[in-house]
Amino acid sequence: MIGTPARVVADKLGVPFYMFFTSPWMLLSLFLHLPAIDAARGQGEHRDATAPILLPGCVPIHAHDLPSSMLADRSSETYAGLLAMAMDAATADGILVNTFREGERAVGAAPEGVKLPPVHAVGPLVWTRRPVSDDREHRCLSWLDQQPRRSVVYVSFGSGGTLTWQQTAELALGLEQSQHRFIWAIKRPDQDTPSGAFFGTAHQAKEDTTMEFLPNGFIERTRGVGLVVQSWVPQTAILGHMSIGCFVTHCGWNSTLESVSNEVPMIAWPLYAEQKMNAAMMEVQTKVAIRINVGSKRFITKKEIARAIKRVMEEGEEAERLRQCIGELKDKSVLALSKDGCSTSALAQVVHSWKCTVGKK
Ligand SMILES: *[C@@H]1O[C@H](CO)[C@@H](O)[C@H](O)[C@H]1NC(C)=O
Repeated sequence: MIGTPARVVADKLGVPFYMFFTSPWMLLSLFLHLPAIDAARGQGEHRDATAPILLPGCVPIHAHDLPSSMLADRSSETYAGLLAMAMDAATADGILVNTFREGERAVGAAPEGVKLPPVHAVGPLVWTRRPVSDDREHRCLSWLDQQPRRSVVYVSFGSGGTLTWQQTAELALGLEQSQHRFIWAIKRPDQDTPSGAFFGTAHQAKEDTTMEFLPNGFIERTRGVGLVVQSWVPQTAILGHMSIGCFVTHCGWNSTLESVSNEVPMIAWPLYAEQKMNAAMMEVQTKVAIRINVGSKRFITKKEIARAIKRVMEEGEEAERLRQCIGELKDKSVLALSKDGCSTSALAQVVHSWKCTVGKK
């Protein structure tokens, strides 16, 4: 979405201007409708709105689920920049989006009278090539090989997500209390921002071996049941392993698509960007996730963590429904990318139109 200034270059060269949007259609829809939403808002701030934003075919977007760029004062420079970008995006010759029609049925939909640029769903594009094997990968996968089918909870907040010290310790205790096996890609806590690993801390790049931020004795008490790995794990290989039973995720769009593609139901614990919108969509629309209950003061207790894990991991109607929905959604995602699938043909159409333009030049 920040690629819009490239329009000038495209114009100069006389080539069409396309955007590749790496988040879901729901966010793209919000972005493209922003000028209209803004005009309709009147006085007031988006963050104070009591009625949710309704976009065609999407789940209602409540103020508390909006991305932070939309929560900024409407008189601020940040917000003005976002609005200008949204207007530029509307002039694109086309937008490729990393989603698929069966996952987001409303992709491309606009309300009566509103004109959007052509939108092409070409996903889900996820990393499937096996990463170069290294020690860490070997350790994770050989540990998983020894665990029963669908018995392990995989926990990761992506390349950017961080929790506070208190929340990290509480998550550890929640995992322990759930009495389920787990594999946890852990990051050094950050008190200041839920995206600390993206925007703060250069020192995080280096792996620190102490993990003194975990509760006393946690590693010893969970030895054999849990595997804690610092900062990075081979996520798609883990999600594709048959020992994995669910994914505690920040709902970044890559992670969400990787979970769907590997048929792993999710416990949504969104942190920043559009992750709260993704979580709402996964729970309410596609029904392949449950959202973790954020208590008062935005602190999630060990009791709630253990409860959420049990809801997804233990036999019962809810767990079964989640399994069924994720199975169906996965099949549809495979279909979308097959030879005659809708994402494949959408991309083929775009390529065809590009070839025609080149011919005319
Ligand atoms: C999402 O996945 C792609 C493909 O593996 C990768 O290039 C990109 O950096 C990922 N994005 C984030 C935010 O991690």
